[in-house]
Amino acid sequence: MKLKVFRYHEGMSAPHYDTFSLEEEPSMTVLRALFQFQEQFDDSLAFQYSCRGSVCGACAMLINKVPRLACRTQVASLLKGEQQIALSPYPALEEKVGWDPSQEVLVEPLPHFPVVKDLIVDRNAFFKSYKFMEPVIKPESIPPKENLMDPSDLPDLELYTNCILCAACYGACPVDGENKDYLGPAALAKLYRFHIDPRDADNRRLEKADINNGWWACDFHGNCRQVCPKGVPPIMAIGQAQAELMEKKEKSEDKK
Ligand code: SF4
Ligand code: FES
Repeated sequence: MKLKVFRYHEGMSAPHYDTFSLEEEPSMTVLRALFQFQEQFDDSLAFQYSCRGSVCGACAMLINKVPRLACRTQVASLLKGEQQIALSPYPALEEKVGWDPSQEVLVEPLPHFPVVKDLIVDRNAFFKSYKFMEPVIKPESIPPKENLMDPSDLPDLELYTNCILCAACYGACPVDGENKDYLGPAALAKLYRFHIDPRDADNRRLEKADINNGWWACDFHGNCRQVCPKGVPPIMAIGQAQAELMEKKEKSEDKK
């Protein structure tokens, strides 16, 4: 089996791919394969990781043309064709790279971000959108002890709190690829998460993204939900937010 890896650093006239023959290890992840590449082929290969346990989100990259976490993606199952996901197309997926999926694992940087070096991308645009959403609880008043909530509110909330900010959804979203100002699936899902949090007292959360590059820019491709390693459904949050905003607007029109 082989690992085919995207290589680029500042000053290079164009990126290229390096192919390395892997020594098979039991339950080998793509992250482990990248370490083997570093140890045995070229220690200048750059990639990001931290937890190695699908928690920090740092290792998201394009693996076999699908944004995934390198630390939880098994090489053997990719070669068996077990982890194929059919995504709505966008340019980065359609770039022609000579690659044999039955023999090789293709590893490239997460699309829609500037490449810093090899597999490392600059995620500033992603975190700028996230910050714009003001991702903190704004309670009516500071509670004297714990801020308790009804346990029946938890399942809906947990759908969105599971996000680990890996940006796989951003890299999979065709709209993010075309429109650099689109807030993106993760930030919108996070905004919706605060909107439905019963402890939050800001009742203008949805209006924050009631702009051209917010809720209304989504084309409902659904790639975000398909690639999310934590099962977060940003597309659902966006659909619900749009419906709630439209209902609000209709009611205010009726009152006039
Ligand atoms: S919504 Fe899912 S894919 Fe998007 S940043 Fe959060 S965990 Fe990653
Ligand atoms: S290294 Fe943390 S999610 Fe993969």
